[in-house]
Amino acid sequence: MAETPTVYVTREIPDAGVEQLREQYDVVVWDEKLPPEKSHVESRLRELDADGLLCMLSDEVDADVLDASPDLSVVSTFSVGYDHVDLEAAAERDIAVGHTPGVLTETTADLAWTLLMACARRTVEAHEYVEAGEWETWGPTLMMGADVHDATLGIVGLGSIGTATARRGAGFGMDVLYTGRQRKPEREAELEELGVEATYVELDELLAESDFVSLHVPLVEETEGLIGEAELQQMSEDAILVNTARGEVVDTDALDTALEEEWIARAGLDVTDPEPLPADHQLMRHAPEKLVVVPHIGSSSVATRSRIAEMAAANVEAGIEGEELPNSALGDAGLE
Ligand code: DGY
Repeated sequence: MAETPTVYVTREIPDAGVEQLREQYDVVVWDEKLPPEKSHVESRLRELDADGLLCMLSDEVDADVLDASPDLSVVSTFSVGYDHVDLEAAAERDIAVGHTPGVLTETTADLAWTLLMACARRTVEAHEYVEAGEWETWGPTLMMGADVHDATLGIVGLGSIGTATARRGAGFGMDVLYTGRQRKPEREAELEELGVEATYVELDELLAESDFVSLHVPLVEETEGLIGEAELQQMSEDAILVNTARGEVVDTDALDTALEEEWIARAGLDVTDPEPLPADHQLMRHAPEKLVVVPHIGSSSVATRSRIAEMAAANVEAGIEGEELPNSALGDAGLE
C-alpha cells in the first residue's frame, strides 16, 4: 500500500485548512508563536520526506528549502503575495506553487480604510490621550484632523485591492486618481458604474495632487523603494500615506525623515521594512501622533483567514494529487 503523503505546515492556521488536510494526509504543524528558522523547515521537510509544504509569508522558500525533500511536489503559501518564494527555482524543479488571490481583497481594502481614517482623524492618538487621563474638557482646537469626505484619494496600483479601496471612496464623495504600469479602462468602467471617477495619472501627479495615497502594488524589482525621498517630497504636507502592500515598497529611512521634517502629515502602515518593526525602531518615535502601525493584519478577519486556510489546503491537495492547482502562483507569474 502506498504511504500516506506528508504535509508540513509552518504555523498554526485556522482549523478549516488543517482538518481538510488531515482527512487525507499526515500533517505536521509547527506550533510555536514565532516562525521556524529556515534551517528548521529544511530539516523537517527532509526528516518527514514531505510531499507538501504549507508556508507563510514570513518563511523564505528558496532553492535549499525546495531541495530538502526529494518528494516535495507542492508549496502552498497562506497568502496572496509570493515574493518570499523563489518561483523560478520551484518551476525548474517542477514543484507547484499555490497562493490565495481574491479572497482577501475586500478585507485588506477595509484595513487600508481603517488606517486612512485613523490617520485622518487621529483616533489612536486621541484614544491614548483619554487613556492617559488628559481629557479634562472639550477643546475647540483639540485633535483637529483631516476631512476624508470630498478629498482626493490616490491609488498606486489599481489591481483588485486598489480597486476595492477606490470603490469605498464613493461613499465619501472622493475624487480618485490612480497610477500603475498602464491605464486600466476596465477597472475605470467598474468604478464608474459605482459613481467613482478614477483618473489615470503619472505617479508624480498623483503624489502632488492626492490628500491620501494608498499603496497596492506587489513587491517586485520595480516597486522596491518606489516611495523614497523624492516621492515623499512631492506629496503635500497635509497628505497621508497608507501602506497595506509590502514594507519594502516604501524606503523606511525616507519615511522617517518625511515625518520628522513634516513633508507629509501622517502615515498608516500595515506592512513595514523591517518586518516585524521592533518597538524601539526609530520610526516608532512618531507614533501615534504621526504614525499608526499595525502588525500586518490586512487579511485578518475570522472569515477571510479561514477561507485562506481552505484555499491553501486545496492547493496542497491538488499539488500532491498531481492536479492543476486551483490558484497557481507559477501560472499567475507566467512561469507555467
Ligand atoms: C498576503 O496574503 O499577501 C497579505 O499580505 C496577508 O495579509
